[in-house]
Amino acid sequence: MAKGIFARKSVADFEADLSFGGGLKRTLGKWHLTALGVGATIGAGIFATTGTAIVGDPLRPGAGPAIIFSFLLTAVACGFAALCYAEFAAMVPIAGSAYTYAYAALGEFVAWIIGWDLIVEYAVGNIGVAIGWSGHFRELLSHFGVHLPAWLSTDYRSAHDAFTALSGGATDAGTQFLASAWQNAPHLAGLPVIINLPAAAVVFLVTIILVIGIKESANTTSAMVVLKVGIILFFLAIGVFLINPENWNNPATGGFAPNGFKGVSAAAAIIFFAYIGFDAVSTAAEETKNPAKDMPFGIIMSLLICTVLYIALSAVMTGMAPWQTLGTPEPMITALQQAEGPPGLLTFSRFIIALGAVIAMGSVLMVFQLGQPRIFFSMSRDGLLPGFFSKLHPRFRTPYVGTIITGTFVATFAAFANIAEVVDLTNIGTLFAFVLVSAGVIFLRRSDPDRPRPFRVPWVPFTPLISIVACGYLMFQLPLITWIRFGIWLLLGLVIYFLYGYRNSALRRRS
Ligand code: ALA
Repeated sequence: MAKGIFARKSVADFEADLSFGGGLKRTLGKWHLTALGVGATIGAGIFATTGTAIVGDPLRPGAGPAIIFSFLLTAVACGFAALCYAEFAAMVPIAGSAYTYAYAALGEFVAWIIGWDLIVEYAVGNIGVAIGWSGHFRELLSHFGVHLPAWLSTDYRSAHDAFTALSGGATDAGTQFLASAWQNAPHLAGLPVIINLPAAAVVFLVTIILVIGIKESANTTSAMVVLKVGIILFFLAIGVFLINPENWNNPATGGFAPNGFKGVSAAAAIIFFAYIGFDAVSTAAEETKNPAKDMPFGIIMSLLICTVLYIALSAVMTGMAPWQTLGTPEPMITALQQAEGPPGLLTFSRFIIALGAVIAMGSVLMVFQLGQPRIFFSMSRDGLLPGFFSKLHPRFRTPYVGTIITGTFVATFAAFANIAEVVDLTNIGTLFAFVLVSAGVIFLRRSDPDRPRPFRVPWVPFTPLISIVACGYLMFQLPLITWIRFGIWLLLGLVIYFLYGYRNSALRRRS
C-alpha cells in the first residue's frame, strides 16, 4: 500500500492528460500571468487585514509603524517560496498548482494533502476576501447616501464581540455600528438573523462570470489590475503630503516598534494574506501559451510589484495617523479620517479608496474563484475526486460544475464567517503548501536529476531550505486555535482520501 499511495505521475501521464476532454484553451501570455498574479495578490490583505497587523488583537501584539519590516519579512519568505513554485510551474506545465507539482515530485498521497490544503488557500481565502470586499462596499454605498444596516453586512462574532465591548464601556463609532447588528437584528425562531449579504452576493456574481469563460474574465482582471495599482499610487500621492513624521516614532505610543520583533513577526503572519496569490499564476499553466518562460516571469514579477507597493503604502499610512488608531478593517480609510488636511480632499480620497478597494478585492475574488475549480479539475481527472469536477461546459469549455460548487461553498460561508478567523486559517494552510512545495524541489532534484527544468531555483538545497524555515516560522506565529482547525481539516482530508481517492485513483488503475 505504501508504494501505491506514493506513486508518482510521470511526464507521459501528464502529456496524456493534455488531450483529456479536448483540453483547456491556451490563451494567456506572460503579462496576462503577471496581471493574474497582481490581481490575485493585492486585495483584502492590504486593504483590510493591515489594521489588525499594525495594532494587534487579543491573541497577539501589533507591529506599529514597524509593519514595514513585517512586509519585508514576509516578502523574503514568499520570495524563496516563489522561486520553488517557479521551478515546479515551468517543469510541469499542467493545471493544478502545487497539487500537480506534488503529484510529480512526492507522489499521490502528498499530492492529495496539498490539493486538499489548497482548498484552504483558495476557497477559504476567498471567504475572507468577500468579507473584506463587503466592508468597503458598505463604505462606498455610504458616499451615495445608502446606509446598509449592520445586521445585513457583518457576522455573528463581530456583532457579539462589539455588543460585549459596548456593554464594557466602548464608545467608538465602529463598535457602536457593529453592536447595532446584535441589537437591531430581526429574530427567527428566537435567534438574531445576522448575515453578510454583500459578501455572498459578490461571490455569486463572480461565479456567473467565470462559468461563461476564462478569456473574458482574464481580460477583465487585467483592466482591474491597472485600475487598482493606480488607486494605490493615488493613496501614496495624497498620503505623502499628510505625513506627520512624529507618528513614526512617537515615544508616547511606544516608538517605531512598540512591541519589538514579537509584534513585527506576529504581524508578518497576518499580512502574509496580502501576498497569497502569486502562486495562483501557476494554476493557469495549462491555459498559457509558453509556460516554461511565462510562468516564472509571471510569478516573480507579480511578487516584486506587490512588495514595493505594500511597503510604500504601509509607510505612508503609519505616517498619516497614530498607529493605534488604525486597527479597523478599513485602515486606509481610517488613516484618511485621522489625518489633518483639507476636508474636501480627504472625503474625496476616502471615496476613491473605497471604490479602489472594492475593485481590487473583486479581482482577487475572480482569480481565486478561477483557480479553485481548476485544482478540482486536475484532482478529478486523476480520479481523486468524482468525475463531475472535470466536466467541461459544452459551449464555454469551462469546468462549470466545480465553479458552481466552489461559488456556493464560498458564498455560504462568506455570509456568516468572521474575517480574522478565516484569514488565519488561510495563512496556515497556504504556508503549509509552500513548505511542501519547497521540500518537493529538493526531493525532485535528487529523484529526477535529468528531468528538463526550464527554470532552476538557484543554490538548491539552501534556497528551498530557507523557504521551509521562513514559512514554518510564520506558521508558528499563528494562534493555537488556528492550528487545531487546520489539523481537523487535514484529518477530514485523510478520511476522504482513504474512502474515495485511494480506491478511484486513475494512476493506480493504469498500473
Ligand atoms: N492576497 C489576497 C488578498 O490580499 C488574498 O486579498
